[in-house]
Amino acid sequence: MKAFIKQLPKAELHVHIEGTLEPELMFALAQKNNIELSYKSVEEVRNAYQFTSLQSFLDIYYAGANVLITQSDFFDMTWAYLLTCKAQNIVHTEIFFDPQTHTKRGIAFETVVRGISQALQKGEKELGISSFLILCFLRHLSEEEAFETLHASLPFKELIIAVGLDSSEVGHPPSKFERVFKEARNMGYTCVAHAGEEGDSSYIWEAINLLHVTRIDHGIRCDEDAHLVKLLIEKQIPLTVCPLSNTKLKAVTSMDKHNVLTLLRQGVLVTLNSDDPAYFGGYLNANYEAIAEHLEVSEAELKQLARNSFHASFLDEAQKQAYLTLLA
Ligand code: ADE
Ligand code: ZN
Repeated sequence: MKAFIKQLPKAELHVHIEGTLEPELMFALAQKNNIELSYKSVEEVRNAYQFTSLQSFLDIYYAGANVLITQSDFFDMTWAYLLTCKAQNIVHTEIFFDPQTHTKRGIAFETVVRGISQALQKGEKELGISSFLILCFLRHLSEEEAFETLHASLPFKELIIAVGLDSSEVGHPPSKFERVFKEARNMGYTCVAHAGEEGDSSYIWEAINLLHVTRIDHGIRCDEDAHLVKLLIEKQIPLTVCPLSNTKLKAVTSMDKHNVLTLLRQGVLVTLNSDDPAYFGGYLNANYEAIAEHLEVSEAELKQLARNSFHASFLDEAQKQAYLTLLA
């Protein structure tokens, strides 16, 4: 099964680039940039990755990102992720970045976006991996700060395909950012949002009806509402599901209780993704392997999940078809 999963050409549509920062690189960058970490070793970092909720993870994740200072730091982190993509047969990736995590620390928007984009361009040229970049607003921050970030993105618009919404979900519903997303759409950005990870199904309804998203990140709590599931199927609104993330952050009690296959079999356009692979114990293939191990999934269904990843992507139809023929 492992070999079967590995050889499948796949797209990844939900990965936070800051969530790919491995402890080894975190330590190297901390040393280079003279930043003190609260851990003494790589092992100690890994041992600290025991989470009880989304917030317990976010606190550690934002602290880890403090080691990223220069453009080359952002480049190195992104390049390391792309090398893993190559090894895992991920041929297309749509990457989130959190500019506010960095601009809040005095790092320029340009430093972040140029470092990541340079690695993506090199990945396309040297590794043959196509990619898009998605700017995420931190939903625990204000509407005003989201507007500032949106406006700061303007000079780099050609490097960014979409905007998204991440960070602490409960208490920060999509409605808080309705006006920001309206302006983002007017600027020509496509929209996505994390919804229904810890928040209930009302967050998914709001993301669809108020933010006009074309894709829902996570969305696993849609199954609380049959009308919502029906809508997702009818409109083929994709869900970017992250099984290892959901069990690590206790959004789902155990992998054998995950609803991703039930949703797939009902006709929902679900895809598999890694979210923050350096923190959750595995990259994309480990997510396919986890559901293969704990749920009764056929090879045909694993292949369908890989096909869905291209259908749900922001690639144009010709590019989608070119990748899909590899999975015929
Ligand atoms: N930022 C990074 N990973 C996230 C997740 N799983 N949910 C919300 N915000 C995030
Ligand atoms: Zn996420």
